[in-house]
Amino acid sequence: DQLKQIVAPLLEWYRRCARKLSWRSDPTPYRVWVSEIMLQQTRVEAVKPYYERFMEQLPTVQALAEAEEEKLLKLWEGLGYYSRVRNLQKAAKVVMKIYGGELPADFETLRSLPGIGEYTAGAIASIAFGKPVPAVDGNVLRVLSRVTESRRDILNSKVKKEFSEQLREIYPTDCAGDFTQALMELGAMVCVPNGVPLCEQCPLSHCCQAFLHQTMLELPVKAEK
Ligand code: ADE
Repeated sequence: DQLKQIVAPLLEWYRRCARKLSWRSDPTPYRVWVSEIMLQQTRVEAVKPYYERFMEQLPTVQALAEAEEEKLLKLWEGLGYYSRVRNLQKAAKVVMKIYGGELPADFETLRSLPGIGEYTAGAIASIAFGKPVPAVDGNVLRVLSRVTESRRDILNSKVKKEFSEQLREIYPTDCAGDFTQALMELGAMVCVPNGVPLCEQCPLSHCCQAFLHQTMLELPVKAEK
């Protein structure tokens, strides 16, 4: 399988070059969960101070479940998309009531919680619990479209599903979380969406079909909705 080739160089690059981010250095389920919710619609640099403050004020699932609404909204003020924090607390209450205060490790159970979709469930399962489950966001779709030189529409959910299935087959079982974050990190730092990708720094350029054919700027394809 052609994709299999990306695993080792991507992991080596991630360990050498990745940004040191607070949620990466201590990836407990709760910390990973909150970070992924914040990062859904907000850039890393903007998230950082909010994340630190949130973790200081509400360090556990229990603290989040019991927090006053006013406090929650204050902690989220400026991040926008307030449904995110409302769902976060709703889910925390479910985790307290049904799962004894511990976030479940199972992908489908995670996905059943308010505010946790396919992407977030994959991120938590892999990063916090080490399960070989992909988390495919826009960054990852871009990387995969370029590596495989796929001209299929990434806005099509079927395409996302197929990339996800292809990834599932190559996921490393001993460092799944690093692999999830390595794909995201490459998309954020090297295989960037706006402007010219930094292919000279990319650990995958030797096997990237778009780089080999110089079609990076044509990919990914997003069909008009
Ligand atoms: N964007 C979404 N999840 C992320 C993560 N874990 N690290 C950096 N950027 C992200």
